[in-house]
Amino acid sequence: MDLLSATVVLVAITAFVTFRGVQARASKKLPPGPAINHDPDTYKSPHEFLLERYETNSLGYRKDVQSTEGRRKAVAFGAGRLICPGQHLAENSLIINVTKIIWAIDITPGIHAETGQHLKVEDTDDSIETQWTNDVLTAPKPFPVSLVIRSPEHQTVVDNEYRQAQSIFKEYE
Ligand code: HEM
Repeated sequence: MDLLSATVVLVAITAFVTFRGVQARASKKLPPGPAINHDPDTYKSPHEFLLERYETNSLGYRKDVQSTEGRRKAVAFGAGRLICPGQHLAENSLIINVTKIIWAIDITPGIHAETGQHLKVEDTDDSIETQWTNDVLTAPKPFPVSLVIRSPEHQTVVDNEYRQAQSIFKEYE
């Protein structure tokens, strides 16, 4: 199924599941997130990585689209009464983690599996049609990448933070 053209995704729980006394719903509908998030009536060139779209509209919409109350950047967290209650925690965690990774690590295209050559940015292919999975959750297929710590000073900070985090999380293991 091509999710970009799907109208609705029905997720059916075929058996009732009870966890600590709470029973899961028998079935529910999920909004067709990928299709809504790539609606060309709402977003200019929806498949392109255009940060400029947020300069004219904080939600990234086309100039002529009204940002009415209740509209959001995307529907990745669902919609309506069952909208994800963890969305703010999830979004903030993502921003914090991505920022820290970019701060600490030099990320470049990796090594070509057959030729052993270091790839250049222009050699890479991030085409949505071929390089991503087409499932309920879209994810990149495996790709070569090189992750190198930026400096010994960055390494020291990462090691110290890791040690501190270990002692904090130990009591929850
Ligand atoms: C990037 C991370 C996340 C994504 C993309 C995501 C997405 C979603 C989606 C699509 C739904 C279904 C909404 C609907 O039925 O319309 C959902 C439900 C839910 N999410 Fe998340 N979520 C994320 C992280 C989290 C986190 C961190 C928590 C908790 C701390 C959480 C807790 C929940 C709960 C409890 C529901 C069920 C709400 C209900 O049925 O009433 N989620 N989430």
